[in-house]
Amino acid sequence: MRILIPAFLLLLLVSCASASSTAKGDVDPEVQSLATGQLLWSRCQTCHGVDGRAKTTYGAEHSVPDFTTQSWRDTRPYDELVESITNGCGPETAAGTSAMPSHGELSKEEVRALAVYILSLGEQG
Ligand code: HEC
Repeated sequence: MRILIPAFLLLLLVSCASASSTAKGDVDPEVQSLATGQLLWSRCQTCHGVDGRAKTTYGAEHSVPDFTTQSWRDTRPYDELVESITNGCGPETAAGTSAMPSHGELSKEEVRALAVYILSLGEQG
């Protein structure tokens, strides 16, 4: 069962992972299934593209990073990805949401699976 903690979500700042960060962070050992992340990735493709390169209209309009480059991966610790996916990040859009929408509907495990999947993208070619 999913446990939602709205207060926890409200307390967190809506911001993207810092570009100056260099720590890689540890991938949660509980996450075994890349397949779970791959399945959930369908929700993200409109903006991030099937391959994570963000070669989409939205990606171009909002300078969405290419997840497959080594330079991007090197500056994004796993736990910051988790935070960005959960709470969203980026500048506010005209619609009043952050450019990268929050995904509070996902369970902790689902978000972790997505972060692991994203970090695997660059290794696919
Ligand atoms: C409506 C378009 C949209 C959707 C849908 C979307 N994203 Fe994003 N995402 C963005 C934008 C725009 C950014 C960059 C925000 C910025 O840095 O200004 C972003 C950034 C991110 C980042 C942080 C990148 C960084 O450099 O820190 C992660 C991680 C991410 N998205 C994962 C996901 C995942 C996983 C999903 C699906 C559950 C998803 N996104 C769905 C638009 C989207």
